[in-house]
Amino acid sequence: MSDKLDKDDVTGVETTGHEWDGIKELNNPLPRWWVWVWLLTIVWSIGYYFVYPSWPTLSGYLQGSADWSSRGEVAKELDQLRQMQAQYRTAMEGKTLAEIKADASLMDFAYRGGQSAFGLFCSQCHGRGAEGAVGIANLNDDYWIWGGTLEEIQTTIQHGVRDENDFDSRYAMMPAFVKDGILDQAQAKEVASYVMAMSDRSIRASQEGATLYQEQCATCHGERGEGLKEMGGPRLNDAIWLYQGGVEAVYQQIVSPKHGMMPAWGSRLDPVTIKQLAIYVHSLGGGEN
Ligand code: HEC
Ligand code: HEC
Repeated sequence: MSDKLDKDDVTGVETTGHEWDGIKELNNPLPRWWVWVWLLTIVWSIGYYFVYPSWPTLSGYLQGSADWSSRGEVAKELDQLRQMQAQYRTAMEGKTLAEIKADASLMDFAYRGGQSAFGLFCSQCHGRGAEGAVGIANLNDDYWIWGGTLEEIQTTIQHGVRDENDFDSRYAMMPAFVKDGILDQAQAKEVASYVMAMSDRSIRASQEGATLYQEQCATCHGERGEGLKEMGGPRLNDAIWLYQGGVEAVYQQIVSPKHGMMPAWGSRLDPVTIKQLAIYVHSLGGGEN
């Protein structure tokens, strides 16, 4: 280091006097304002340590005097939400489904709650959009096996379909006509054709098929195949199939019938959630008055 101020020839800036292999270090101190801001941030951070949660310690962390935590904030928000929900829920408890429908804000709450409950409890079988699948009722159309009014839908959800654990479950069994020897295979084929002919004009049915249908099937499915909710017999004349259409599929149903099973939700979900679900399902498109 020399005492004399050494200036860089090219830039005219003072050097610090350090030199390595002919390269000199220029003396460019940080601007004052920058240094002040930097010092301020240090002071700020020290203050911050005392007020807000900061350093980890062996047994946890420094909590700070403000007693703030992100978890606490979430809990507070949830609490507020619960209080809001509680208001609506109490209001829903005392009202009939029709009254809820008539009240726009309750209806909104019911629909949203029903939608999210549907996603949680129902969509694994009925599909996200309630479109159903083979053997699982589509809830969007205006065709209902067990009834499409608010109350009927509520009952179906509450007690399920063929749920052995629920005494009031929707229940109806179609006889295994061929297996049990009520019809022989040839007769079953005739009836199957007759059933398909109800919705498909290209299929020809015999008089025998028609007679057998009236004798064996009309009690549950209706004289014209219109379906009978009280008997749980689905409509057969509309080309909407719970299982599959086609003479062969109908024949198989007569030989040895399939039966859908839907769990009862009354024992698992609270009454308000069931109401929400009934309202949601009812408003999907096919709800009846
Ligand atoms: C394990 C599968 C499964 C789950 C879960 C399920 N369902 Fe179902 N659901 C079915 C089946 C299968 C049927 C058709 C029953 C039949 O054959 O009559 C059905 C029928 C229905 C019906 C009657 C449709 C009609 O045409 O009358 C309604 C309403 C319904 N489900 C609503 C719900 C709601 C709401 C939930 C959720 C809380 C739900 N289901 C959960 C399988 C399920
Ligand atoms: C005791 C009542 C009962 C009688 C009698 C009956 N069924 Fe059924 N049938 C049902 C029920 C209940 C179902 C619905 C099964 C389900 O919900 O999963 C059904 C379903 C069907 C289906 C399937 C419908 C679909 O949408 O996929 C066909 C087809 C059918 N029956 C045809 C017949 C024919 C043909 C006869 C007469 C030979 C007959 N049934 C007699 C109760 C009956």
